[in-house]
Parts: sequence; structure tokens; C-alpha cells
Amino acid sequence: MFSLGRFHYPNPVIILAPMAGISDQPFRQICEQQGADFSVAEMISAKPDLMDTRLAQTRLYFGDNPKKPKIVQLVGSDAKLMAQAAQLMQARGADVIDINMGCPSKSVGKHLAGSALLSDEKKVAEILTSVSKAVNIPVTLKTRIGPHEEHINIHNIAKIAQDSNIALLSVHGRTRAQKFRGQARYEAIANAKQHVNIPVIVNGDITSAKQCQHLIQTYHFDGVMIGRAAQGNPWLFADCQHLLNNLPNHYTHRQTTITQHIKALHQLYGKQALYIARKHLHWYYQHHQNYPHWRPLINQASSDNAQIELINRLQPPIKERLP
Ligand SMILES: Cc1cc2nc3c(=O)[nH]c(=O)nc-3n(C[C@H](O)[C@H](O)[C@H](O)COP(=O)(O)O)c2cc1C
Repeated sequence: MFSLGRFHYPNPVIILAPMAGISDQPFRQICEQQGADFSVAEMISAKPDLMDTRLAQTRLYFGDNPKKPKIVQLVGSDAKLMAQAAQLMQARGADVIDINMGCPSKSVGKHLAGSALLSDEKKVAEILTSVSKAVNIPVTLKTRIGPHEEHINIHNIAKIAQDSNIALLSVHGRTRAQKFRGQARYEAIANAKQHVNIPVIVNGDITSAKQCQHLIQTYHFDGVMIGRAAQGNPWLFADCQHLLNNLPNHYTHRQTTITQHIKALHQLYGKQALYIARKHLHWYYQHHQNYPHWRPLINQASSDNAQIELINRLQPPIKERLP
């Protein structure tokens, strides 16, 4: 059992990972409907001149669901700017601030932000302390197991997080140098968990409910965070909740869920939505045996109505995936 402000979580939690360009409000809403306990919004820069851009505004759109925390993720390297940005987000209604120290992207790393910070533990402490002191909402941290193979320091980072009053730690089981190569290593995260009392969430390469169950039973993590495996398969959260927490697995009819998702994308993005919706449609149908025939149809649907009509035409249920 742990709490994030007024939100209480008795079970191992199942969380949708932040994914820039993917985990926007429409996708988060769909995943939460299917059982994600909560989700983290796409990262935004803490730089003041980037906080009110159109991109940031879209990323900061949360809709109106009082049952789910609004979790804003900040990325940056300047402790003072990060603290100010956190205060601004709190004033604008954020329930939780998540700090991104996991992003391996060069453009983020060039400013010594994201996972680039992991080589500088003093700086990590400085940022975490100033952000958590600046706000009175929970602050969480998302990170990786270390900068590179010869420097796995997640156990130190976890202790720094706990000492800085961080409420929850999620860890992608790769180093910064690995980017997305190789496999996530869960033992390093489990080892870090033994050094702290704050909730620790495991992340990286989790693709099935059985795998979630195995990770929770073996390492006693406080929850799992799922990213890429949820693309085209938000029902994975229902499967996980069913297996882990015995919650009923009566997920919404797939066609209904997809339609709702596509409509919400068009509402949020206007003209830009077509390509974003197309990307999700490909993910939804990619494992169906008829996908080779449907693929060009998905590419040809060139308006919101055409995409919705297509979803109705592709009526046969999408091939079930194993839990
Ligand atoms: C396209 C994409 C965008 C991502 N954007 C973010 C982000 O904004 N913030 C963040 O902390 N991690 C981001 N990540 C990392 C994911 O949150 C997650 O840690 C990683 O994908 C590993 O989990 P998975 O194997 O379940 O996908 C991103 C990953 C992908 C694939």
C-alpha cells in the first residue's frame, strides 16, 4: 500500500509509461479505462520559454478525470528552473511531478539532462531536493540503472531519491549507454529496492501479464510500468489487473475502444490527428492475419470519418494475444 497525495494504491500498481509522441491524453485515457492504475504524461522541458509552446500545452492536457492523478513529467538540468517549473505545474493543477532522469536522447543529454545526469550524483541530489522542497505535492523519479555497464549506480540513486523525499521511483532496467539495445536487467532494480523503503516500480521490456506476475512475485516490486507493449494493446492492462490483482477482465469491445481512441485524437489534435491516428491504427491491427490487406486501407483513410468507417469495416475481432 502506498499513496501519492490523495490517491491510494493497495495493490501492486500497473502503470502506463511516459512516451513522448505516444502517451498523450487520448492514449492515457484508453489505457486507464482498461486498467492502468495511472499514467505519466509525456515529458516537457522545464525551460520557461518552452513551457507554453503548443507542443507543451498539448502534452499538458489532462482532460477531466478526478479519479486519476495528473502527473506532469519535467526534464531539465538546472535545479532552480526545475523547481520553478514544478511550482508552476502545481499552481496549474498537477497532482504529482515526475522527474525524467531516464531519457537517453542526445538532444536531452546535450544539456546534461535526462539520463545524462546519472553520472553526476551530486547534481541528481541537488535537482531532486530543490524540486521536492519547492512543492507540496508528491515528486517521483523515473530513471535507468546507471550511465553505462561499468557504472551501475541505481542503488545510490535510489538512496539519494529517498533522502530527497521522492515518493516513488520507477526504473527502466537498462543503462543510458544501452539506449534501447540489449535486455532490461531486473536484478539491478531489485538490488536497489533493498536499499530503500520508497515504492520501486520495474520497467523495461514487459510484454505480458505473466511476466508482470513473475516480476512481482520474484522481486516484490511495488508495481510494473509498461510502455511499448501497450501500443496497439491497451487491453494488456486488463489482463495484468486480472492476473495480479484478481480484478474482473471484462474489457470493452475492442472496436469501441479503438473508435473512442481515434475520435479523441481528432478532437485533441485537429488536422494533425490524421497521421497520429494512423500510427495507432497500424499498431492496433498489426497482429491480425488480414493486416497485409488492411495496411493500405489504413494508409488510404484520409479523414476522421474515413478512419472511423474503416474501423467499422474491419469488424472481425482483432486476433487475441496471449496474456
Ligand atoms: C517513443 C518513446 C518515447 C519515450 N518518451 C519518454 C518520456 O517522455 N519520458 C520518459 O521518462 N521516458 C520515455 N520513454 C521511455 C519509456 O517510458 C520506457 O522507460 C521505455 O520505453 C522502456 O519501457 P518499455 O520496454 O515497456 O517500452 C520513451 C520511450 C519510447 C519508446
